[in-house]
Amino acid sequence: MIKSAKYIKSYYQIEDLPTPDKPVVFLLGRSNVGKSSFINYISNQHHLARTSSVPGKTIALNYYLLDNNYYLVDAPGYGYAKHSKLTLQKWDNFLTKYFNRITVNLVLHLMDSKVGPTDKDIIANNFIKEFVQNVVFIMTKADKINQSEMSATFKRTKDVFSDAILNENLFFISTKSNKNKDKVIKKIYEYL
Ligand code: GTP
Ligand code: MG
Repeated sequence: MIKSAKYIKSYYQIEDLPTPDKPVVFLLGRSNVGKSSFINYISNQHHLARTSSVPGKTIALNYYLLDNNYYLVDAPGYGYAKHSKLTLQKWDNFLTKYFNRITVNLVLHLMDSKVGPTDKDIIANNFIKEFVQNVVFIMTKADKINQSEMSATFKRTKDVFSDAILNENLFFISTKSNKNKDKVIKKIYEYL
């Protein structure tokens, strides 16, 4: 269980980022997939990170400090070019700059349990792999699917992201339940 979680700061310019004094865990995922919700979920707080029904709300890098041990970074989502101020090109430039500057220990790649991996998720995953070796897959909003849908998404995700150890790096979560929460927290610590 996470004992403490606090908001540190939002960065709008990569140049403003200090060299991190603690390990960094980065949230990757399309807009509206549940990145901000994940921060609240994992830290057992309802209003720590701002969630939104309007996609593309997070245009900054929001830093949270968990258990005084590591930073969890809420990052801009991709895939909602229509409503977002952030085009894919801008997203790419912004994060390329970021990853060239900051050493990230772990990426949590969030995808929708029902939708599974999309083309954009595959592009984003390839992009991130150039910078970070450690990726854990988090399938969000699992309350919206049944067991057979879950099996289908599980299989498809494994097929698409053929990491040998994927079985142990893939979790279904829902903000409506604590199922798998401790496993995810434990997994994060394995990489720090
Ligand atoms: P951006 O900041 O726009 O990139 O989105 P985000 O990835 O931070 O998504 P956010 O956490 O704001 O969640 C988007 C919507 O999905 C909100 O309306 C949440 O309440 C909802 N949501 C998030 N997690 C879950 C979940 O586990 N189950 C259900 N049913 N809804 C969820
Ligand atoms: Mg958000």
